[in-house]
Amino acid sequence: MSSTAEEHHRPAAAAYAQAAEAAGRAPSIHNTQPWHWQVHPDRLDLYADTSRALPGIDPDDRMMLVSCGAALHHAQVALRAQGHTAQTRPLPDPAQPDHLATLVISGDEPVTAEAVRLVQALQLRHTDRRPTVDTPVTAEQVDELRRIAGELDVHLHKLTPDQVSELAVAVSRAEEAAAAEPAWQAETARWTGPERPAGAGLPPEVLPDRRPETDVGERDFGARGALAVGGGHDKSSTYVVLFGSDDDRAAWLRAGQALSAVWLHATGQGLAVLPYSQVIEIDGTRAMMRRLLSNLGYAYIVLRLGVADPDHPLPGHTPRLPFDTTATVDPA
Ligand SMILES: Cc1cc2nc3c(=O)[nH]c(=O)nc-3n(C[C@H](O)[C@H](O)[C@H](O)COP(=O)(O)O)c2cc1C
Repeated sequence: MSSTAEEHHRPAAAAYAQAAEAAGRAPSIHNTQPWHWQVHPDRLDLYADTSRALPGIDPDDRMMLVSCGAALHHAQVALRAQGHTAQTRPLPDPAQPDHLATLVISGDEPVTAEAVRLVQALQLRHTDRRPTVDTPVTAEQVDELRRIAGELDVHLHKLTPDQVSELAVAVSRAEEAAAAEPAWQAETARWTGPERPAGAGLPPEVLPDRRPETDVGERDFGARGALAVGGGHDKSSTYVVLFGSDDDRAAWLRAGQALSAVWLHATGQGLAVLPYSQVIEIDGTRAMMRRLLSNLGYAYIVLRLGVADPDHPLPGHTPRLPFDTTATVDPA
């Protein structure tokens, strides 16, 4: 390598490492963090780490890809906040389907206020399973989230009251199907119980201490939580579906990027977000969600949006794996 190239690459390597580290805060199904970053001097590669996949719950890797897509978007946000323009090549090698993306810094750009807001939201964002407060999410807020998802070719549909009732039926069917499936139960127990890997899975502090009063039943993790849910009923929640025209790996990865983009923006707006993915994981209820969308596309994930209670922030964050578990950095 010439000395000029080294000079150019050294700061890029540090920026890639920082982006991979920031991406560790991304949301993931059961907090599995199913990604692995390879930090090179001239690029950042994202791989799926299938050792943390959920073959019982997520046999086709859809939720794994959504999770990795969210991590990819987090890395993009972190690079932009460092003043870098990055080119992303999704699924760069058809012979290696678990190589999900390559990011390459292609230039520098002024750091915008929006980039700083997003990277701050990345630190604050979390899943909130408590009922939301009584203030409704505004139509303008939903429109803005729809525009943000649209930038990634992902559509956002706000469910009508009748469709929320249909969603509630689909969720309870999905829960019944999950309850009857031993592999499903065993996997959920592994990621929520005392045997969960250190720094991953769901600790009791983020799971409700009792079933919250909700129009659409929350996911049953089968584990007793310690998160006080209070007395509210989330009557003012808004339910949206992210959906799109394809059902392949590229589409699910993009859905994850859109999920992250929507969630970070919502966080900045003081909105609480709760994903509902069990209806997508089960074949029968995934088909119900497609029909609910009048077959206009494939449903990727359902989100409950509400106004977060400003007086009661969540007591703690879900833990994360150490950086060297989810990333490998080329020696200098
Ligand atoms: C693809 C995906 C699916 C998820 N599905 C659910 C779900 O069905 N129910 C739920 O309570 N949380 C769900 N979550 C939230 C994760 O459990 C959460 O992101 C993870 O535990 C990390 O916590 P954090 O979001 O607070 O950082 C999902 C997240 C992702 C990315």
